[in-house]
Amino acid sequence: MSKVAVIYWSGTGNTEALAGFVADGVSEAGGEADVVQVSDFDKASLASYDAFALGCPAMGSEELEYDEFQPFWDDTKGSFGEKKVALFGSYEWAEGEWMDTWKADAADAGVNVVDTLIVYDAPDAEGETQAKALGAKLV
Ligand SMILES: Cc1cc2nc3c(=O)[nH]c(=O)nc-3n(C[C@H](O)[C@H](O)[C@H](O)COP(=O)(O)O)c2cc1C
Repeated sequence: MSKVAVIYWSGTGNTEALAGFVADGVSEAGGEADVVQVSDFDKASLASYDAFALGCPAMGSEELEYDEFQPFWDDTKGSFGEKKVALFGSYEWAEGEWMDTWKADAADAGVNVVDTLIVYDAPDAEGETQAKALGAKLV
């Protein structure tokens, strides 16, 4: 069974809601998901997962959250190898440029990004469906 880590940062709960739907998608596709806030994730456990869904909203000025998520990303982006990785997050003020930057950074680091998802504000029914589909792609 594919074991997927859903690791996220969320200030007001929108990306957290997406993380839950991504995990639902993993489970519905027959995988097993651990949903963990980035501050609680033990980087030593990275090797025990088959795939990863990483969630962070647009923060700063079209940036990843700088205090917890950006350091996590910087520390781990060289460690995913060929494992499948999906990136997701919520935004509200602009058009999603932070995800373009994040994708480009992942490509530079050689991360195997299978898909990305950006959702405006709190996920609605369409966002829920998209997040579940994202999770299923990791199984
Ligand atoms: C400090 C701060 C910076 C933000 N910067 C951006 C931004 O650059 N672009 C954008 O589209 N939204 C920006 N937002 C809006 C958040 O991305 C949006 O509210 C998102 O839904 C928050 O997700 P969360 O509930 O998971 O924290 C910012 C919000 C805060 C509080």
